[in-house]
Amino acid sequence: MRRSQIIGFGSYLPENIVTNDDLAKKLDTSDGWIRQRTGIAQRHIAADDELTSDIATNAARTALKDAGLDADAVDLIVLATATPDNTFPATSTRVQSNLGIRRGAAFDVQAVCAGYVYALAMADNMIRLSQVETAVVIGAEVFSRILDWDDRGTCVLFGDGAGACVLRGADAAGTNADTGILSTHIHSDGKYYDMLYTDGGPSSTGTSGYLRMEGKEVFRHAVHRMSEVVTAALNHNDLSIDQLDWLIPHQANKRIMDSIAKKLILPDEKIIVTVDRQANTSAATIPLALAEARADGRLQPGQLVALTALGGGFAWGSALLRL
Ligand code: ACO
Repeated sequence: MRRSQIIGFGSYLPENIVTNDDLAKKLDTSDGWIRQRTGIAQRHIAADDELTSDIATNAARTALKDAGLDADAVDLIVLATATPDNTFPATSTRVQSNLGIRRGAAFDVQAVCAGYVYALAMADNMIRLSQVETAVVIGAEVFSRILDWDDRGTCVLFGDGAGACVLRGADAAGTNADTGILSTHIHSDGKYYDMLYTDGGPSSTGTSGYLRMEGKEVFRHAVHRMSEVVTAALNHNDLSIDQLDWLIPHQANKRIMDSIAKKLILPDEKIIVTVDRQANTSAATIPLALAEARADGRLQPGQLVALTALGGGFAWGSALLRL
């Protein structure tokens, strides 16, 4: 069976680091409260002139370098983002131009924090159908631009960043057909539209609006759906939780991840965590975590890795990978 393999990992984090103590100077909050409720200690915040397309391009370039490919090998760019440069065109087309690519296709996917799993599913399906051979799948966000910095209940939770993977058809030269993306599962239920949203948009207010959420409800659904969809992925592939080497959950909150581990009966050591240093970068958390764990040697060829995420909509999903 033709599969997509991940042959390159890349990431980019803006230089500016904002600690909880920095936030506590401007806001009625504390390092203790934020750490205890979320596990977050700091986040990266993009410079004023740094756009989603810039950080996405940086992540894509490092992923292509890691894969040993030139940009002209890329047939497809899928960018998961809820913070595009402009309402249109798709920010991925600017990334395409930044990379000097004049062929193939580029489009954005909007599933907020679940965006990376959705984007992987789109690219994987196109590769399986032989519509494309090589795809760059990026998650990039500047959530700092859509936060209400006076709302301590939300602004402390997020950060900016970008991550990317290069996917290649398994029957392409230099690939091993036994590995790659084994399956993807995506879901949404618009009944929960008002649980996590921005209070603006092009067709409603004409502005981007600011992020609003019902934190406790989001927490509850995140634990339930992110666990459920990992179990579905394992069942689909006749695999069990004991066979999983790593779980990379969307990094919203350490307590959400702890609850998922408990529900799945998975030891904490098998969960890759970046939220402490990067906070919630929405669609970028999963590729950022993948790139970090690949670079520091935790991810090794042959390992079984599950990705899972939930975001506004609600939209959620999982991907199961054999590295
Ligand atoms: N610093 C200090 N106090 C705060 C802060 C803050 N930053 N934020 C809220 N508080 C206060 C509240 O005002 C409230 O005070 P009160 O009791 O005097 O009214 C108190 O802390 C408790 O507030 P709650 O909202 O009930 O706190 P909760 O325990 O639910 O924790 C949190 C809030 C951390 C947001 C939690 O609900 C959560 O993690 N939810 C998941 C949301 C999430 O991660 N969303 C990310 C996007 S979705 C996704 O990516 C999956």
